[in-house]
Order: sequence, then structure tokens, then C-alpha cells
Amino acid sequence: MEILAICGSVRAGSFNAMVVRTLPLLAPAGMKIVAAPSIESVPTYNADLQANGFSNVVLQIGDAIHKADGVIIVTPEYNYSIPGILKNAIDWVSRLPDQPFKNKPIALQSASQGVLGGVRAQYHLRQILVFVEGLVLNKPEVFISGVQNKADASHGELTDGSTRDLIKQQLHAFETFVRGIKRNAIE
Ligand code: FNR
Repeated sequence: MEILAICGSVRAGSFNAMVVRTLPLLAPAGMKIVAAPSIESVPTYNADLQANGFSNVVLQIGDAIHKADGVIIVTPEYNYSIPGILKNAIDWVSRLPDQPFKNKPIALQSASQGVLGGVRAQYHLRQILVFVEGLVLNKPEVFISGVQNKADASHGELTDGSTRDLIKQQLHAFETFVRGIKRNAIE
């Protein structure tokens, strides 16, 4: 199965991007995880712009979500919510015809330099994903607190053993979740 990872941070030294880069090393054998096109160049949402057509990057992200068996969103928390740039990208994608998040299995992860690991952002994200009818995995939840002490910036990867184990457990649960949704969709 192919899983698309969307990163909510576009900063060069992003810890969340480090988590995304680490995911393929932690995935079960049957799961391929690929990074989505960056959300950095998605224009600010404006219905007038949309009236003139979707930009290529929005079409590419929407197409990648459509083709994927599931999506993992890895995001920082900004001011107790998700970064505006991630919300903006979701807003654009949500206006695409044949809205790609509908019935799409989704797993959430957040990494923060704070003590709660982005828990408030993830719960806002769950709420947003209700409207676009995503099917979000409940547990295990992955909140990576104090991520600056759990990653090796020189290698650009997440190094903390217990965090890597938790992510492995979530990816394993997500594999089962995705399979279950696919099976039920066929029946
Ligand atoms: C933050 N940060 C932050 N952390 C947190 O745990 N809760 C929060 O509400 C916020 N709010 C916040 C707002 C803004 C505007 C910034 C720039 C940062 C800190 C955040 O966890 C930290 O900068 C992370 O390193 C951001 O993720 P990336 O870019 O490293 O992936």
C-alpha cells in the first residue's frame, strides 16, 4: 500500500519534516510512504482565484491524495492550532471536484518543541477533517513533545527509540485500518 505524508511545516530545519523523512524507515514491510508535494507554494485561498481554476500545486496535491491508499499528516502546533499554511492547503483541496479527502484513511502525528507535542493542533485537525469526511485513525496517537531532544539535526532524522517505537505501532495500526476500510468498501 502507498501512503502519502503531508508536512505542515515548510521551514528548512523543520522537526516535523524530519519525522516525515524518518517514516519510511519505520513502516511495515507492505507500506510505502512517500512525501506529498510541498504546501509552500499553495496560494492564499480566495474563491475569486478558484473561479479562474486551481493552481498546479493544488491539483498535484489533490491527485496525490486521490492515488494514495492513505494519508499521514505530520504537523507542528502554532498558537494552539495547526499552521495557517496547512489549513490553507486543506481549504484549497476541499474545493476540488471529487474531493480527495472523502473516505480517505488518515493518520495524524505532531512534533513540537513544547511539552504537549502538538496535542491541541491535532484535535483541531481532527475537527477540520470531519468536514472533508476523512476517516481518521483514533489510536495510537503520536504526539512528539520536546522534539529538539529526540532528533539528530545533523542527520535530519528522528532518533529517539521510544518515539520511533510508538510511530511503528501507529503505522502498523494504520496498515490494518486502511486494509479494513478497503475491504468494507468492496463489499
Ligand atoms: C510555535 N510553537 C508552538 N509549540 C507548541 O507546542 N504549541 C504552540 O502553540 C506553539 N505555537 C507556535 C507558534 C508559532 C507561530 C511558532 C513559529 C511556533 C513552537 C513549535 O513547536 C516549534 O517552533 C516547532 O519546531 C515547529 O515545528 P517545525 O517547523 O520544527 O516542524
